[in-house]
Amino acid sequence: MSDTFRAAQARSAAVEQQMAENPGSLRMLTGDRPTGALHIGHYFASVKNRVKLQRSGAEIWQLIADYQVITDREIAGDIAGSVTNLLIDNIAAGLDPERATIFTHSAVPALNQLMLPFLSLVSVAELQRNPTVKEEARTAGITSLGGLLLTYPVHQAADILFCKANVVPVGRDQLPHIEQTRVIARRFNERYGVVFPEPDALLSPATLILGTDGTKMSKSKGNVVELRMSADETAKKVKGAKTDSDRLITWDPDNRPEVANLLLLISLCEGVAPEQVAEEIGDGGGGALKARLVDALNTELAPLRARRAELASDPAYLAGVLARGNERANELAEQTLAEVRSAMGMDYRTLPSN
Ligand code: TRP
Repeated sequence: MSDTFRAAQARSAAVEQQMAENPGSLRMLTGDRPTGALHIGHYFASVKNRVKLQRSGAEIWQLIADYQVITDREIAGDIAGSVTNLLIDNIAAGLDPERATIFTHSAVPALNQLMLPFLSLVSVAELQRNPTVKEEARTAGITSLGGLLLTYPVHQAADILFCKANVVPVGRDQLPHIEQTRVIARRFNERYGVVFPEPDALLSPATLILGTDGTKMSKSKGNVVELRMSADETAKKVKGAKTDSDRLITWDPDNRPEVANLLLLISLCEGVAPEQVAEEIGDGGGGALKARLVDALNTELAPLRARRAELASDPAYLAGVLARGNERANELAEQTLAEVRSAMGMDYRTLPSN
């Protein structure tokens, strides 16, 4: 385990403490790229923490990161359909549009403009080292890195800092971007005076959930259970999951990663330790393991799926939620950009005599 990961974990634990003691001091921002609908990886790594933060009384900013869809693909596909899915998934999971601001990049010019000063604070070498950028390029089969993928972490810093968020619920794979955001905030503050907080990641106990084939979850690999799937579709996906030939189910993440992944998912749904789940299944084999996971997932997701169906039938309501969110995001982004300009000496309302 790396030192940066350990440090991020310690700061995440401190955020949990703050959530209990002084939630009013927390402002959350996190985002999803509209490349489809949310899956259980998003759900356990981030969505549950969004809802938990909202419940605690923290301020909630939820980004639909539409400009970042084209970081690793040439065209955005059915982007309006995916934006709708993200709106529905987040609200169905428990984000309350009366309390949470849900918005898109493309509607908030001042957020995007923060990219310019931020780009001046990073080096190309630093960006080329970012492990998450490298991994995304590899997954997408990209051999020649595009400018937008290279600068993705800088854009993400603008996402987080435009609203001065201090907490970002994400999966472990996003830590390099949060680290880069902290560095950008620190360098800006050192150079121009303090404007930005250094945000902390809020990590979930599910550090890394794998897809049903035992590799990193990715919609393009077809190895994910989407929140919007029916109970039958969920059963079909889980039954096709990879396990191994040993009938005795044991909790052994190092040697049996696929079995451990299914146990971890059951544990997350049921709130029972994975070791205990393994013991209960015993020599029931992969069949019993999967049957239990199907039940656990379908039970966990049933209320969300019911709300989802209601929301999906009301596109006018969803459009209204997004319009209001975009309006609020613009207000705050313009305010922050004005502060940034002023810190940089670019406030020209009064000019020096010449
Ligand atoms: N990069 C994130 C992902 O791929 C999505 C994202 C965009 C995000 N902007 C963000 C996450 C800001 C946290 C904060 O899942």
